[in-house]
Amino acid sequence: MSGAVSWPAGVQEAAEVVSARPVGAYTHLVLRAPEAALRAQPGQFVACGVGDSGMLLRRSLSLHAADPEAGTLEVVVAAAGPGTRLLAAKRPGDVVPTTAPLGRPFPLPATSSPTPAVVIGGGYGAAPLPWLARVLTAAGSRVVGVVGAASADRLLGTSAVDDATALDGIADAVVVTTDDGSLGAQGRVTDALPEVLLELAELGEPAVYACGPMPMLRSVQTTTREVLGDQARTWLAVEESMACGVGVCMTCVLPVAQDDDDGVRRTRMLRACTAGPVFDGDALRWDAIGAAAHLRGGALVPEDAVGAPRPGGH
Ligand SMILES: Cc1cc2nc3c(=O)[nH]c(=O)nc-3n(C[C@H](O)[C@H](O)[C@H](O)COP(=O)(O)OP(=O)(O)OC[C@H]3O[C@@H](n4cnc5c(N)ncnc54)[C@H](O)[C@@H]3O)c2cc1C
Ligand code: FES
Repeated sequence: MSGAVSWPAGVQEAAEVVSARPVGAYTHLVLRAPEAALRAQPGQFVACGVGDSGMLLRRSLSLHAADPEAGTLEVVVAAAGPGTRLLAAKRPGDVVPTTAPLGRPFPLPATSSPTPAVVIGGGYGAAPLPWLARVLTAAGSRVVGVVGAASADRLLGTSAVDDATALDGIADAVVVTTDDGSLGAQGRVTDALPEVLLELAELGEPAVYACGPMPMLRSVQTTTREVLGDQARTWLAVEESMACGVGVCMTCVLPVAQDDDDGVRRTRMLRACTAGPVFDGDALRWDAIGAAAHLRGGALVPEDAVGAPRPGGH
């Protein structure tokens, strides 16, 4: 797997909306952004201006796809608050200021040793999975997709909702869950994970690629370790609140433990927008993530990581 590689910074483009159409409860937008489309990789995101002078901050959206030949980026927008409501209402011909591609993409297995993989997402978190699955299958991996949502209209990634944004026909198999049982198996998306992991583990050490809200990612990490012990890699794309998206404001920091060159494991607060959004699931300090109940999500600095680095490490 590729490790400490640096990625080119995003470019700013005034992206014309090429098409806008509903997909279940979401809006699928195709944006003309030729420079970004040349560089983008699955797992990266785009920061979009919303076109209201009172809303200075750009809204971060996962890249659903990039087409270098057409010069387009694709995103799927859930109208959650004022900014995403404006983005979901864009129509062809409108212009969206974009900075992309941002963040680090999903690490891929070496093509010489394709790894079985599960790509798993909740709600609009499934947006980057078809593109990722296409890249993985082209590299020779067996790929199983698992997508879930609270109800059928909030699902993404299955042809039962929409063909163009589906994993069907890209992944070797697709499992669908809904909390209310309105489509697929009733239950949480992670309920389907153990069986898929055990099936894939017969082919080799699986890679688990996940995207969605933090509680889902925590459950993916815990389930993978319970079912397969250390016999899997987990790559988790987080959706921390990002005010700037480009490494300036520090609102998106998460505690991440890494082995330094001296062999000591130290925890640092890293910016999810530049060091992530994809993290190694074993490196995230789950004991401190979500511990700040008074914040919207967020994480506390772990006790052992407070203050300046100490001899012997945190
Ligand atoms: C990497 C990433 C990928 C995402 N992918 C998608 C996607 O594919 N589709 C999708 O619909 N949504 C996605 N989101 C979520 C989306 O960015 C938010 O729903 C959106 O920013 C909310 O903006 P709003 O104006 O609608 O709502 P509001 O909640 O009103 O947000 C207003 C602004 O404040 C910022 N903000 C909110 N809380 C905080 C906080 N505690 N600290 C600092 N700033 C804060 C927000 O980032 C936003 O810029 C993604 C988020 C991230 C970080
Ligand atoms: S969102 Fe501003 S530093 Fe990450």
